[in-house]
Amino acid sequence: MNNLTDHIGRSFKVLRVSLLDRCNFACTYCVCDDDRTIKKPKKTQLSVHELSTLIGRLHDTLHLQTVRLTGGEPLLYTSLTELIASIRHAGIKDIKMTTNGLLLAQKAESLEKAGLRSVNVSLDALTENTFLQITRRKGVKRVIAGITAAKDAGLDVKINAVLSRGENDNEILPLLDFAFQNNIKIRFLELMGMGHLFGEKDNKFFSMQAILDKISTVYQISEQPKKYGDTATYWTTRCGNTFGIIANESRPFCADCNRLRLDSNGNIYGCLSSDVPISLAEINSREGLEASLYAALAQKQMQFSGSEMSMLTIGG
Ligand code: GTP
Ligand code: 5AD
Ligand code: SF4
Repeated sequence: MNNLTDHIGRSFKVLRVSLLDRCNFACTYCVCDDDRTIKKPKKTQLSVHELSTLIGRLHDTLHLQTVRLTGGEPLLYTSLTELIASIRHAGIKDIKMTTNGLLLAQKAESLEKAGLRSVNVSLDALTENTFLQITRRKGVKRVIAGITAAKDAGLDVKINAVLSRGENDNEILPLLDFAFQNNIKIRFLELMGMGHLFGEKDNKFFSMQAILDKISTVYQISEQPKKYGDTATYWTTRCGNTFGIIANESRPFCADCNRLRLDSNGNIYGCLSSDVPISLAEINSREGLEASLYAALAQKQMQFSGSEMSMLTIGG
């Protein structure tokens, strides 16, 4: 069923795998204060064997192009290099990761050797104070060292900066210059109504248009044609530097969404807006798997509408 598609041609070519729902940061847009004070039992992670078996079964059925590892924070997963090697062994060459970057400097080289191709690193501020306010942790220098190490190791690197009005919108131009000077692609993300922000993000929301207005005070920019399946739209300055915006609210890309999600308990979801898990635990036949994938495909929407599910669980 190479061609599992819905009525507008959407299929699953990118599998996003949340390795664990724990993180060494506690970003305000992801983790609410209550989550930090309630002591949750530590959840176990799926083993390399369990994960690579699940990913292999999905690949056999869907002929995936890309696996992106997320979390929580994927660098906290023990045996990450072994996992990457076994995903490669399952026949998937395009293996990527989205990380907060704190532990990246010491791991970038071995991850690249295991078969990782690319990392998206979250960096919402360059000033330590603002970084601390958002992530509730110190670490901007370590994240920057992680970005440098990833580049040096030969990984393709992009920066993700989530914007919150009044918190880090004054970081847009410094972040842009940092990315241009270091020849790294940066994407600014509109705040999404996920988890504790479900229905609550409006007073912090900083729109794509507001981002463009700010950047246009300094740079003359022109919009690039959007690539099918890409989360971001890109703009180029007159000097040829590029940046992107992921505008889930003002310019959703749902019509060409090609993503399937696997959470750290082995459930799949066809859409970031869906918090209804589809368990693969009892599915042993190919027909059963296909039925689950069709159910996941039916979750896809035409407009991102948010979800009560935390990004920590579903992985962005
Ligand atoms: P590349 O384009 O391969 O770099 O990956 P990406 O942009 O899909 O990955 P990343 O993990 O960096 O995701 C960045 C942001 O894109 C997420 O935080 C979401 O805001 C958005 N995003 C990713 N996948 C989806 C999706 O399936 N639906 C929606 N609505 N947004 C998504
Ligand atoms: N809105 C927008 N982006 C978010 N991320 C996490 N929570 C949110 C949110 N509420 C981002 C992370 C990471 C990506 C996977 O998702 O910063 O870059
Ligand atoms: Fe961790 Fe990412 Fe959530 Fe921040 S957004 S707390 S880095 S999982």
